[in-house]
Amino acid sequence: MREELYDRLAEVEDTHWWFVARRELVREMLRGRCAAGACWALDLGCGTGGNLPLLAGLCGSAVGLDLCAHALSLARSRQPGALLVRGDAMRAASVFRPGSFDVLTMFNVLYHQWVADPEEVLAQGRELLRPGGALLVTEPAFACLMRGHDRAGMGQRRFTLPAMRSMLRRAGFVNLRGTYFNAAGLLPALVLALWDRLRGGDAPRTTAEISHPPRVVETLLGAAMGGERWLVRRGLSVPVGLTLLCVGERRR
Ligand SMILES: C[S@@+](CC[C@H](N)C(=O)[O-])C[C@H]1O[C@@H](n2cnc3c(N)ncnc32)[C@H](O)[C@@H]1O
Repeated sequence: MREELYDRLAEVEDTHWWFVARRELVREMLRGRCAAGACWALDLGCGTGGNLPLLAGLCGSAVGLDLCAHALSLARSRQPGALLVRGDAMRAASVFRPGSFDVLTMFNVLYHQWVADPEEVLAQGRELLRPGGALLVTEPAFACLMRGHDRAGMGQRRFTLPAMRSMLRRAGFVNLRGTYFNAAGLLPALVLALWDRLRGGDAPRTTAEISHPPRVVETLLGAAMGGERWLVRRGLSVPVGLTLLCVGERRR
């Protein structure tokens, strides 16, 4: 990814409604899946490190791995004590001892151009998790929503929940639970994706979607995701949305 995109991520991820709401959903989905304070979490493709404090808070200790030195230096400057490793998720199992982690997370990483084979990353992740350890993945959903925003973030693919579940099962994960989220963003994203198609797929790369919208819009979108969280807390799932989230555990 271009350095300016990491700069933008580092600037907004603590306060932008989408990142805040995603962390709240993750907290909900990881509830009860790790012994609070006594676990190790690994965040593959940690970027500028915005999810590490949440994981360290939930689990006890968290390590971030990313391929991009610039992202890691931003993460380090924001969180001087963070445990950060530069490495390729495609070869993550050669960086740590097998079974070292209780929780493994990947937030919008498998869709990235630097991931040649998402199934290989999942296989590497499985080796790093202890049997019964928890996996949580979020990824952009629905190929038809590819647009300038994806190109700016070096996105190569988007997923559906059935496809993600199949991949996770093949990689050795069980007890899967999935949901989409950010249904409110679907219509605008669809319009932008259609606009992109009409332009032959060359609408400008744009990072506008990770800028703060006006306060009132931000509040409404955050509230809509609060509603989705309410459903998830009751064991339901959101049938469509811009992003998907899946949790599961490594087969024992
Ligand atoms: C869209 S960013 C997501 C950052 C962060 N996980 C988040 O959601 O806020 C994708 C991240 O995955 C990292 N990445 C992509 N391919 C990777 C690979 N093969 N190994 C390690 N990191 C990778 C990129 O450098 C980038 O930081």
